Amino acid sequence: MLRSVVRGCGSYLPERIVTNAELAQRVDTSDEWIVQRTGIHQRHVAAEGETTSMIGLKAARAALADAGMDASEIDLIVVATATPDHTFPATATQIQAELGITEGAAFDLQAVCSGFVFGLATADKFLRSGAARAALVIGAETFSRILDWEDRATCVLFGDGAGAVVLKAEEGGGTLADRGVLTTHIRSDGRFKNKLYVDGGAGSTKTVGFLRMEGKEVFRHAVVKLAETVQHTFSETGLSGRDIDWFVPHQANRRIIDATADKLGISHDRVVVTVDRHGNTSAASIPLALAEAHRDGRIQPGQLVLIEAMGGGFTWGSALIRW
Ligand code: UT7
Repeated sequence: MLRSVVRGCGSYLPERIVTNAELAQRVDTSDEWIVQRTGIHQRHVAAEGETTSMIGLKAARAALADAGMDASEIDLIVVATATPDHTFPATATQIQAELGITEGAAFDLQAVCSGFVFGLATADKFLRSGAARAALVIGAETFSRILDWEDRATCVLFGDGAGAVVLKAEEGGGTLADRGVLTTHIRSDGRFKNKLYVDGGAGSTKTVGFLRMEGKEVFRHAVVKLAETVQHTFSETGLSGRDIDWFVPHQANRRIIDATADKLGISHDRVVVTVDRHGNTSAASIPLALAEAHRDGRIQPGQLVLIEAMGGGFTWGSALIRW
């Protein structure tokens, strides 16, 4: 049985850091409010002219270097992003071209904050069916470009960044002892569109628009839906929170992360947290956190890593990976 094994992981954050204190000079907020309600202390913001494909490319190169693989070995690129460089062509094809790849397929996938989980689930299907041999799954976002910098309820929450993993199809025994992606669960429910959306688009207003969110409502749904999707993983595998070596959740709000970990019986010292330094980087948040914990030696080969995310749509999902 073919498994999608993580061969490498990398990330990139734009140089400029924006602190809560800096934001407090622009809108009616405070470091105390932001830290207390979200756990965020700072976020990175892309430079003028620094696009999603540029930061995604840096993360992809870092992941390939970590894997010790050449770009020519990649025959599938999935970029999860809600902030593409252009309406078309896909950001993935720009990254493909910069990597010098002319074979295989590259496309963008849009599931907002759940994008990386959806991207991983998609690439896993291609690799396990034999339709592709090695994939780059990239989460890359420049949410700073779709924020209403006058709206204190949203502009303090998000940041820019990119992360990537290299997946390679390898034979496994078909058990939970295999390395690679073991389970994926993805869901969506479009009835919740108005809770979290961008008020523009090529096919409607002909503008890009700004992010709008009913924060409290999203929060309420997030804790319920995230726990529910992980329970599917647990019932499918017979595992429980105690079996998870590292929980790497989408990084939207420290309170959501803690509440979800508690619901799932995962102790807080097994949770990878980056929201304090990155803010919510949407589809990039999980691969950024994976890359950090992989780089600093927390995540070790053979360990069980659980990822989950929830975002606009609503979309939500989870995946279990043996590293
Ligand atoms: O990535 C997936 C999508 N996003 C999420 O998962 C985010 C989910 N939601 C959240 O993280 C939280 O709901 C927020 C952090 C957005 C807000 O926290 P909250 O505890 O739900 O606060 P709230 O929206 O109920 O606002 C409480 C108060 C309000 O004032 P009043 O009406 O009580 O007088 C807000 O106007 O805080 C006010 N407020 C602020 N005050 C200072 C809202 N934003 C700010 C701000 N600074 N930046």
